[in-house]
Amino acid sequence: SKRTPLIAGNWKLNLNHLQSIAFVQKLAWSLQDARLDFRTVDVAVFPPFTDLRSVQSLIAADHFPILFGAQDLSEHDSGAYTGEISGAFLKALDCRFVIVGHSERRAYHHETDAIVGSKAAAAIRHGLVPVICVGETAEDLETRGASAVPVEQLGVALEGLPEGADFVVAYEPVWAIGSGRAATPEQAESVAARLREVIEGAMGPDAAARTRILYGGSVKSDNIASFLREPDVDGALVGGASLVVEEFAKIARFQS
Ligand code: G3H
Repeated sequence: SKRTPLIAGNWKLNLNHLQSIAFVQKLAWSLQDARLDFRTVDVAVFPPFTDLRSVQSLIAADHFPILFGAQDLSEHDSGAYTGEISGAFLKALDCRFVIVGHSERRAYHHETDAIVGSKAAAAIRHGLVPVICVGETAEDLETRGASAVPVEQLGVALEGLPEGADFVVAYEPVWAIGSGRAATPEQAESVAARLREVIEGAMGPDAAARTRILYGGSVKSDNIASFLREPDVDGALVGGASLVVEEFAKIARFQS
């Protein structure tokens, strides 16, 4: 496809500080050994906020083209918002990406579609690329089918984005996250194709053609290639399998 695949590792709150450091170092070595061609795939990791600085320094010292991003950001730019981190801080650390609206944030931190939209807009304001997560629960799937909820969530998230905004969409069926029960490539493709129509409707055909749509939910080294073969799936947002260097490196090398 014309879109460079993106393999994104969302560490969530799984690694401690020392593990984060060791991980990035080993990932760089492993991808270097495997001669991964970084012109053909983007590889990104998403550590906790407080490890972004260390990851940035390591990657800069190695001149290694691994990208990184944060797992969340504030919808506010500054002010009396105790505990929040604005996009400006992330940009200052050379973050390329920031995840917004992960299903865990929606479920445990009561993030509504409107909040997710205003976080996506905040990311764009600061020159970050939001990875906008959408996905249906098992109950949604049962009552409304696979695409109704993700389509609605993405529609709201795109409302506040300026024309020409650079963003990524991650389709993550909630029932597939951490369950070992991935969607089939056909299921992922059918929702991804619908999401691309939503992008086209909201942002135009160029945006639809250019924007990467990732699949997430129990992606492993042995199923990644089957997702990437689908025309509208441009990469993966990986949780559990992103925590083991060799497994994540294999996923990044899905083409070989
Ligand atoms: O952000 C990543 C997803 O929630 C997927 O997690 O690969 O452990 O299923 P998982």
